[in-house]
Amino acid sequence: MNDLPHDDEAALQPHGAVVPGLGVLSSAQHGARMARPDPALLCVDLPGRRMVLVTGGTGFIGQRLVAALASAGHGVIVLTRDRNKAWPWPQGSVIRIVTRLDAIGPSERIDAIVNLAGEPISDSPWTRSKRQRILRSRLKVTREILRLLARLEHKPMLVSGSAIGWYGLRGDEPLTEASDCRPCFSHDICARWERMASRAEALGVRTVLLRTGLVLDHDGGMLARLLTPFKFGLGGRFGSGAHWMSWIHRDDMVRLIIHTIATPGVKGPLNATAPEPVTNRHLTQALARALHRPALIPIPAWPLRLVLGDFAQELLLSGQRVLPQLALRSGFRFRYVTIETALAEMIGSSGQA
Ligand SMILES: NC(=O)c1ccc[n+]([C@@H]2O[C@H](COP(=O)([O-])OP(=O)(O)OC[C@H]3O[C@@H](n4cnc5c(N)ncnc54)[C@H](OP(=O)(O)O)[C@@H]3O)[C@@H](O)[C@H]2O)c1
Repeated sequence: MNDLPHDDEAALQPHGAVVPGLGVLSSAQHGARMARPDPALLCVDLPGRRMVLVTGGTGFIGQRLVAALASAGHGVIVLTRDRNKAWPWPQGSVIRIVTRLDAIGPSERIDAIVNLAGEPISDSPWTRSKRQRILRSRLKVTREILRLLARLEHKPMLVSGSAIGWYGLRGDEPLTEASDCRPCFSHDICARWERMASRAEALGVRTVLLRTGLVLDHDGGMLARLLTPFKFGLGGRFGSGAHWMSWIHRDDMVRLIIHTIATPGVKGPLNATAPEPVTNRHLTQALARALHRPALIPIPAWPLRLVLGDFAQELLLSGQRVLPQLALRSGFRFRYVTIETALAEMIGSSGQA
């Protein structure tokens, strides 16, 4: 691990805190009950000892990625706005924390940058100021990465976040990376974020744009929000339930990020979704079955639209049927192909999440 020459850096040791602010119901309870696979196993495709910079490393995806890299013996630098934000670190690991990218010197060796930072999209309604924060936060961090890339003597590769919202609101047609888009707020955010990140290519940097689907795990993201009502038998589909939800298990998400770092031929937009997307109706029924509860209470579309507007329309009532064509063609093998196998791992065969 590097020395820590700057004031705004700290090497943090394990202390058992939990990342706050995910708005997750019962997350500590779920986390305490589940014995997760060793995170180091998610990194088996990455040989040697790499140095990876992760922005948003304190987030839902980032925490698991950082844990995987650190447990497997790779070097990790986490960019965070708050160095006191920490989570249970892999035992014995030392992770370098920076609060500014200019704390990284031009001669330092970084092999990959994973750019996940940005204002949360699904934690509150899309007011005008929330929309601005969603966009500006992503562009700001990505612009800072471009500045870092320009001055680094050894150029790393870049994996930069995006989402399947890039494709816009769609019906039943299967979408691959070659598909076109439809305008909406989610598309606009993703398109501008991708355009900014793609400027790295002009610096000779291999750039992957992760069009991420709904990332599922028991202790964060959408699944954790659904678990409590479903456990009380109060769950149900949104609207007609006919819209598609392209999901990915968080561990496959981390493995796919590792795969893109390890595979030199992978670049450009890459769908980060499981090979078998499901409709909202299918997902809610599968979740209810996994919890041994009924899913009897559908949530009608009109009050959602009335109260939440575009937020409801884009995140809850519409979707995309996305296929991970490039991931599969580049040799990536998903561990969780069906929603049933993913939920069985996340919730457990007893249904006691
Ligand atoms: N989870 C999903 O289902 C999903 C689906 C599609 C796309 N994505 C995208 O993938 C990325 C990672 O997802 P995630 O679920 O891990 O996100 P997350 O849990 O919300 O974490 C993102 C991180 O970004 C940083 N951040 C938050 N607000 C910020 C702001 N205003 N300015 C700068 N940084 C800010 C935070 O780190 P610090 O507080 O430490 O600075 C936070 O830990 C996100 O950009 C998300 O949009 C996620």
